Amino acid sequence: MLAEVLQLLAVKPGDTVVDGTVGHGGHAEALAEAAGEEGELIAFDWDEEMLRIAEKNMEGVGIRKTFVNADYRSAPEWLRERRPDGVDVVLLDFGVNLQHFDDMSRGFSFQGDAPLDMRMDRSAVETAAAWLNRATEGEIARAIREFGGELWAGPIAKRIVIRRKEGRMKTTSDLVDAVYSAIPVAKRDKRVHPATRTFQAIRIAVNRELENLDEAVTDIAGCLAPGGRMATLSYHSGEDAAAKNAFRNLARAAEFTVLTKKPLRPTEQEISSNPNSRSARLRGLVRGNS
Ligand SMILES: C[S@@+](CC[C@H](N)C(=O)[O-])C[C@H]1O[C@@H](n2cnc3c(N)ncnc32)[C@H](O)[C@@H]1O
Repeated sequence: MLAEVLQLLAVKPGDTVVDGTVGHGGHAEALAEAAGEEGELIAFDWDEEMLRIAEKNMEGVGIRKTFVNADYRSAPEWLRERRPDGVDVVLLDFGVNLQHFDDMSRGFSFQGDAPLDMRMDRSAVETAAAWLNRATEGEIARAIREFGGELWAGPIAKRIVIRRKEGRMKTTSDLVDAVYSAIPVAKRDKRVHPATRTFQAIRIAVNRELENLDEAVTDIAGCLAPGGRMATLSYHSGEDAAAKNAFRNLARAAEFTVLTKKPLRPTEQEISSNPNSRSARLRGLVRGNS
């Protein structure tokens, strides 16, 4: 939804742009080009590998750049200290990068066989394997149900707990096998891999992706200068709900205006060329009146 993001954020030459989730820098590059040489880009990503890729991809883009290897939930503190006058543009494009799935060694994908890692911030201590071997059956079931929307969450959690006692919860194949053993063949989804929802849920739980999200969006919006704009791109209902609530509450205080009454969705054309965009929801906010 690059065109929609650019339209919503209406970047002007000289703007200070914050990309809280820079990934490979696709959005950041387009925003930086709009801000031009007089502008500034501040890019966050908690995955150092992504940050380095973005840095390399943007080598030729003429703008003052700062790359910060940190959780965007720490961005308000960083920005208040270093850019006290506020910033003009913020983008949060939540979730994972496709590269995370392509690199089998990171354990995000159910397609290969790799250690169950799934940490996006590799300085974090707890891997998915460690979490699945520590959490209670109830905690695992709740995460799979809430973050994955999986109807078979209870039976899957039960299988995980049985298998971990036998030392069989270390790899992505172990997790796939637990899912298969919990869902009867006749009940398995024919369109999506039966482990899709469980992998997504455990990734969200291990990285605590939805924790304090509402507060983080609110605090980051508080770093906007008057007239500054912010956009969120969500792929999960929990992310979208956090952005929606935060924007609605900010607009109640009259200092902010929501730019998107309803979230913008990708066009059919974008969905057919990039099926992963299907669940995307774009929301926008401005400090002041639109
Ligand atoms: C969907 S991708 C962003 C893609 C990017 N807009 C682009 O054009 O390449 C999300 C990125 O956000 C990062 N990320 C997710 N949650 C984060 C968090 N809490 N703090 C910092 N980075 C985060 C991920 O590591 C990933 O690189």
